[in-house]
Amino acid sequence: MQTLLLLFMLPLVATAAAPATRPTEPFRAEHVALVRELDEVAAKVGSIPTLPAARQREEMKAIVGFFKEHLEPHAGWEERVLYPAVDRRMPTGALEPFTASMRNDHKVVGRWIGELDALARPQTPDPTAFTRRADNLLGLVRAHFEAEEEVLLPILDRTMSADEFKKEILDAAENAHQ
Ligand SMILES: [Fe+2]
Ligand SMILES: [Fe+2]
Repeated sequence: MQTLLLLFMLPLVATAAAPATRPTEPFRAEHVALVRELDEVAAKVGSIPTLPAARQREEMKAIVGFFKEHLEPHAGWEERVLYPAVDRRMPTGALEPFTASMRNDHKVVGRWIGELDALARPQTPDPTAFTRRADNLLGLVRAHFEAEEEVLLPILDRTMSADEFKKEILDAAENAHQ
């Protein structure tokens, strides 16, 4: 009898244990893909000191290119679409919008990308200065991603359906890229 009861309850237990699909899952998938690219960039940064001098500048430029072409557009879209969606769901009346500190992170990230760009320009760049600044930037970006995933996205997961997230956020992202 006990076994029968357990068998009966098993699907309920399995359902409770399985994580429900969160409305923000498509956006989280973009973060997963970017983090994979950040891992590759980190490996490239780590290899710069071992490269022949002639190759170091080339690799630095490729790294700067990644930050400019992949990371900056992601941050720009967040500021236009994702962050306002979060701010709209938070109580008004504060001196600054809820996402103000995240927008400031983007400012610092943009400034440090500019510094990396400048460090990669001389004919014989300084590999120590470049790798130090690149490592700082990678650390900041990873912490920033985690804050988005652990603090901002749960607000949307709790206040939107998957369909609302698609209409208000993903469709707006598509339109922004057209
Ligand atoms: Fe961001
Ligand atoms: Fe992000």
